[in-house]
Amino acid sequence: MALERTFSILKPDVTRRNLTGAVNAKIEEAGLRIIAQKRVHMTKAQAETFYGVHRERPFFGELVGQMIAAPVVVQVLEGENAIKRYRDVMGATNPEKAEAGTIRKLFALNMGENSVHGSDAPETAAQEIAQWFAGNELVG
Ligand code: RTP
Ligand code: MG
Repeated sequence: MALERTFSILKPDVTRRNLTGAVNAKIEEAGLRIIAQKRVHMTKAQAETFYGVHRERPFFGELVGQMIAAPVVVQVLEGENAIKRYRDVMGATNPEKAEAGTIRKLFALNMGENSVHGSDAPETAAQEIAQWFAGNELVG
């Protein structure tokens, strides 16, 4: 099986509550290596681009507002089956439906403030990584 990379965001509810290290511990315990990481405060335009696929959804405005409410930590994670592995560790989008032990079950506040983002496919992972990192910032 090949090493894979995925894009991750620790959302504003995580940075606001000083949970960056706690979430990173869950990521590393799952066998994912953090090969790039930086703290940024997204602009509205950056958040709208990032979640552009959801532009027509009723929750889009609220989602963008939540993403720019405080800094986030953007990351690239590497590991075997990293995309699915991270989605499994994240848990369901709605934290009430997330399995025990997942990041969202442990830390998320609600559907909007659900602690983490992870790419959903290889194509989106590549696009999202390219939006936030230059190639020489990924150190595997
Ligand atoms: P993400 O993209 O953040 O990793 O989350 P996801 O794949 O699990 O969920 P997705 O369907 O891509 O939705 C993106 C984010 O939008 C917010 N959301 N709110 N109120 C709602 O019905 C609703 N649905 C989605 C969530 O914050 C979700 O993470
Ligand atoms: Mg998604």
